[in-house]
Amino acid sequence: MNIVVTGGAGFIGSNFIKYILKKYPDYKILNIDKLTYAGNLDNLKEVENNKNYKFVKMDICEREIEDLITGYDVIINFAAETHVDRAIENPEIFLKTDIFGTFNLLEISRKKKIEKYIQISTDEVYGSIENGSFDETSPLNPSNPYSASKASADLLVLSYFKTYKLPVNIIRSTNNYGPNQYPEKFIPLLITNGIDNKFLPIYGDGLYVREWLYVEDNCRAIDLILHKGEDGEIYNVSSGEERENIYVAKKILEILGKPESLIRFVKDRPGHDRRYSIKFEKLKKLGWEPLFKFEDGLEKTVNWYIENEWWWRKIKEGDFKEYYKKHYQI
Ligand code: NAD
Ligand code: DAU
Repeated sequence: MNIVVTGGAGFIGSNFIKYILKKYPDYKILNIDKLTYAGNLDNLKEVENNKNYKFVKMDICEREIEDLITGYDVIINFAAETHVDRAIENPEIFLKTDIFGTFNLLEISRKKKIEKYIQISTDEVYGSIENGSFDETSPLNPSNPYSASKASADLLVLSYFKTYKLPVNIIRSTNNYGPNQYPEKFIPLLITNGIDNKFLPIYGDGLYVREWLYVEDNCRAIDLILHKGEDGEIYNVSSGEERENIYVAKKILEILGKPESLIRFVKDRPGHDRRYSIKFEKLKKLGWEPLFKFEDGLEKTVNWYIENEWWWRKIKEGDFKEYYKKHYQI
């Protein structure tokens, strides 16, 4: 199979590329990535010389990427602006990449008669739920410019299935964690701050709930949907591993052997969704189940950051420093 992966230099995309090249030595992957602040070729060092892997630096909004996409069966679109706090501060680029970029890829898929277009979406499109869990038929109710852009993209993808019979799938997963996640996100930020004895910023009362999915479990889910997903279907991917943010912070400090006095409650995020929770019965029927318990995945992740300081230290001392100072006002 010949696959175009967009946004493959980011967290989930790079984990997915490494997973696929290892599992299917005869598959070919073309990775198209703009290399924004979140794109990092260090994530792909172990495959950069693989003869079945190719990287091209380009923006998914550019129509010219069409020229690269000849002889490919599948497009999997991971490329997006992904950080909610940045979307609140500067929404425009989210609308451009997450909506217009998706539109451009759909147009190219239609023209090139792509056999499968997979949109990597998010559980955030359903919005917050205090009790119970959403399924794939639940209404879209996004709360911030990031999730509203992702929801808009999902609607476009579905319209291409209905109107043009483009064979599509949409995958909506919960919060991922694991190796190579940019340290603006909650878990890697807390781990790397903890290692450096810096404070761990907790928004609001810390009782917000996320359902944590180890990135390898998500890669297995995407792999299954790629091979067995029914055209036009949406699949939720989750774990049932719901944890309050304050619990996650304390657990990270426990694994690191650091004191809880490093925890600091800070100003809340506007429009902060209280709880995300989705059902994954549909994917279960296809033959998938998560393998990682949260505490095991978290320990593995903490150890990865301890062992791979070379990877995150240069990010935290580079571009990220300015963002961090401004955002947390320190
Ligand atoms: P990330 O921010 O780590 O990586 C995004 C990648 O996309 C980067 O490599 C970046 O350079 C690239 N990119 C951004 N704009 C681009 C453009 N215009 N053209 C080409 N490349 C561009 O993101 P992630 O956490 O790996 O998320 C990947 C996908 O999964 C996203 O679509 C996101 O919405 C979705 N998702 C993420 C999570 C999560 O917990 N991380 C959960 C559910 C869904
Ligand atoms: O649910 C899937 C989504 O998960 C993805 O679609 C997004 O791309 C991804 O960024 C993530 O969004 P969240 O907003 O849930 O993730 P984040 O890591 O930013 O925050 C997780 C929780 O931790 C959330 O309740 C906010 C809180 N938080 C976050 C940061 C950065 C803090 O308390 N302090 C912080 O400094």
